[in-house]
Amino acid sequence: MINDKKVLFSGMQATGNLTLGNYLGALKNWVALSDEYECFYSVVDLHSITVRQDPAVLRKRARALLTLYIAAGLDPEKNCIYYQSHVSGHAELSWILSCFTYMGELNRMTQFKDKAAKHADNINAGLFTYPVLMAADILLFQSDVVPVGIDQMQHLELTRDVAQRFNAIYGDVFTIPEAYIGKTGAKIMSLQDPAKKMSKSDENPNGSIYLMDDPDTIMRKCKRAVTDSMAQIVYSDEQPGVKNLLNIYCACSGKTPDEAVKEFDGKGYGEFKMAVGEEVVSVLKPIQDRVKELEKDKVYIDNVIKNNAEKASYYANKTLRKVQKKVGFPERIR
Ligand code: TYM
Repeated sequence: MINDKKVLFSGMQATGNLTLGNYLGALKNWVALSDEYECFYSVVDLHSITVRQDPAVLRKRARALLTLYIAAGLDPEKNCIYYQSHVSGHAELSWILSCFTYMGELNRMTQFKDKAAKHADNINAGLFTYPVLMAADILLFQSDVVPVGIDQMQHLELTRDVAQRFNAIYGDVFTIPEAYIGKTGAKIMSLQDPAKKMSKSDENPNGSIYLMDDPDTIMRKCKRAVTDSMAQIVYSDEQPGVKNLLNIYCACSGKTPDEAVKEFDGKGYGEFKMAVGEEVVSVLKPIQDRVKELEKDKVYIDNVIKNNAEKASYYANKTLRKVQKKVGFPERIR
């Protein structure tokens, strides 16, 4: 608990262009939960270098992501919005936790297998131990809740296992975190292949709506979205393309799938896709406008970066000192 509130941690990688999946699966829920919890939202740049990055591009994207957090509605006065690389506790705790995580556990991580297949020429140790760093991110702040999309669930389970293992040896050191998965939007699929997750790294740009896509592009991508020949708008696994569009529509509008299905009863796919596109534009356009505004205010963003890194370091160090003492590192002499 911090200031009598439960603690929330989440993060996002500044790699590639963020998609509507990132927004609906994570960022949107972060904003909704931000009053209830003491929140830490990190731009997880340490994670990004598990895949080779152009340094200048990574720096630019990290700043753009941090700005986007604010533009999406996270108030940096109330929420701790910071770069992971500015808080050394992440890497330090990660090392300690790696000594409490088994190779077998990491070997089972499906994201590692996917990424290793995609980057066969660079299967580095960081890619393998990535979930340990993620566990450190979460446990460093004694987080109670972690809002993520479904694809991060396996990493969260591992975090809980490692925390429980550590606590079983040393007493109640870590809070055991719970995942928070939104009702709709937790798994947005590609518009071109509804069997695949909408992803920043998709080679087909028509499969993903990017958060900074202009309204015309969003409408075009929605119109081109793959559906089926069943000519009915129902919320069913047999119609994954239509189901995905309904999920997008519901996550953007706040309506339930039942309400949406009623609304589109008897309507054609063309009209349905237009309505989905318009709903997406109405959610993204104000955020895009705010990003452009915020980008002009360099001093403001710089202050957010500085102040919040200090705040995050303060809480991170509290946990880190406790953990270091538990495992037997010598006390510091002041
Ligand atoms: P990342 O950067 O891949 O994704 C950020 C968030 O977006 C969610 N997401 C989706 N949700 C719904 N549909 C989709 N198609 C979709 N694609 C992505 C992800 O589930 C995630 O919540 N390892 C994490 C970052 C991370 C983190 C953490 C998250 C590092 N440390 C600690 C939580 C807590 C990642 O790569 O997310």
